[in-house]
Amino acid sequence: MNSVAGLTPSEKAPKTRRPIIAIDGPAGAGKSTIARHLARYFGLLNLETGAMYRAFALKALASNASLEDLPALLALAANTSIYLEPTGEGNLVFLDGVDVTTRLREPRITDGASRVSVHPPIRAWMVRLQQDLGAAGGVVMEGRDIGTVVFPNADVKIFLDAAPEVRGLRRYDQMDSAAAAEVQPEEVIRELRARDERDRNRADSPLKPADDAVLLDSTHMSLEEVVGKVEAIVTEKLALEPSKA
Ligand code: DC
Repeated sequence: MNSVAGLTPSEKAPKTRRPIIAIDGPAGAGKSTIARHLARYFGLLNLETGAMYRAFALKALASNASLEDLPALLALAANTSIYLEPTGEGNLVFLDGVDVTTRLREPRITDGASRVSVHPPIRAWMVRLQQDLGAAGGVVMEGRDIGTVVFPNADVKIFLDAAPEVRGLRRYDQMDSAAAAEVQPEEVIRELRARDERDRNRADSPLKPADDAVLLDSTHMSLEEVVGKVEAIVTEKLALEPSKA
């Protein structure tokens, strides 16, 4: 790995565009927690691209469109606006001007987001929206294809992963008691594997690390360890100081 001290003077020179940090990885790998932390630590905006696919799935399901019917989905997309507003606590998600943030975590939306995201024209639309949102830089953008497709020139790319059992159990532990009472941990792991399978094997922009991404497997790491590691990676790559804000 390049150390900052080993860079040439031009590589050390301050960048004019603010940085773009891409965090990719499968469900439950800790992307949101890490991205939110990095954004706060370095004074950047956090953009959660999965929330955009979730918002579109919400609209498609509410419209009774089949998630396999691409012409119907495209007709819907033509009349849909989706916008993310970063806050310190995560993103507010606006669908056609309405804040739908609290409606995006139901299992049918989670499953629907993975299904609508297999269609290349839907992805192309989302990628354009995401490129517009991040164009000025100063962002930590998380998703599945940020380092490979949305911002292939991102300044730092991190691919977070962990064993499916560990990711599933983390997801289960994060559920509130009412939701956890309705499912077994095994079911959460099974659902996560099914989504992994679809996200990793779709033909267009499958989930995979960019060639120049730093891979971080947190199977045997605590959250504090992962946070420490990504802070060090970003600091070294960007020679950034933490935000004083
Ligand atoms: O990150 P998430 O769990 O909110 O994402 C929901 C789904 O959206 C995920 O299963 C795949 C899709 N997605 C994608 O295809 N590309 C992205 N950049 C982000 C999410």
